[in-house]
Amino acid sequence: MVQRAERVNRGGNAKRPVGNITRGTTNPNRLRRVDRWLAGPQAWRLRTEDSPLVVDLGYGASPTTAVELYQRLSTVCPTVRVAGVEIEPERVRVAKALEHEALTFHVGGFEVPVPGSPVMVRAFNVLRQYEEADVQAIWDLVASRLSPQGIFVDGTCDEIGRRSTWVALDRSGPLSLTLSMRFGAFELPSDVAERLPKALIHHNVPGEKIHSFLQALDAKWLAAAPLGAFGNRQRWVESVRRMRDDGWPIQAGPARWRLGEVSVDWAAVAP
Ligand SMILES: C[S@@+](CC[C@H](N)C(=O)[O-])C[C@H]1O[C@@H](n2cnc3c(N)ncnc32)[C@H](O)[C@@H]1O
Repeated sequence: MVQRAERVNRGGNAKRPVGNITRGTTNPNRLRRVDRWLAGPQAWRLRTEDSPLVVDLGYGASPTTAVELYQRLSTVCPTVRVAGVEIEPERVRVAKALEHEALTFHVGGFEVPVPGSPVMVRAFNVLRQYEEADVQAIWDLVASRLSPQGIFVDGTCDEIGRRSTWVALDRSGPLSLTLSMRFGAFELPSDVAERLPKALIHHNVPGEKIHSFLQALDAKWLAAAPLGAFGNRQRWVESVRRMRDDGWPIQAGPARWRLGEVSVDWAAVAP
């Protein structure tokens, strides 16, 4: 069932969370690809504070992905604190049984009502349930809550996390788009288009930059087909390398590409 996108509820009074209760669909291990990125190339942000705060915004019907986020980040930063924020109060009541000193759960919305400024906010499969017209205001509100080195990750994935995309923003605005896919879970890179973040999903049409990017990546993937004899990993790495050689502002290097990931400057794909 696809839920119709909704306009954001702006709170109205100081006590009402900003946002709307939506379906709570989630799955264990669903967010492993973005967590690996947060615990990898983004981990330096955790080290900018003694006891950094990370928020899982909209964790869903079960708090599993918030627990996993804590487990994954605490291996690279043992002093990390994770706060799960959910707009549906019953989901918070249930999650409270799992609380400990470094993992807490709170009722709230995009205003992120937790003490302190988070160094990471991960909102996965949350904004896709809102209308595109509200995305900029949501980004601005969440980004205003970040610490100086903080990032907000607004992303989307399929039910079991094999195809995933996310936009990363800091307090100055959007920085990058990342695509991350399991090898074997796509025929063409553009298969990920149906999982693009809300800001881009309606723009995958000729004349838009995200469309050009995905078309170019498809072309590189097809051209690199002979490398498939050595495995899809090699084929993907070569495809991304050729994108970079053509001038696309690809971030990071082969160590990330090998994981089925590619990050590109936001400016190259922005609507
Ligand atoms: C589809 S679930 C996603 C769960 C999990 N993040 C995942 O990706 O598996 C979306 C959740 O976000 C919650 N939600 C929607 N808008 C929100 C908001 N403004 N603030 C906090 N939670 C919100 C919904 O109530 C729902 O539980």
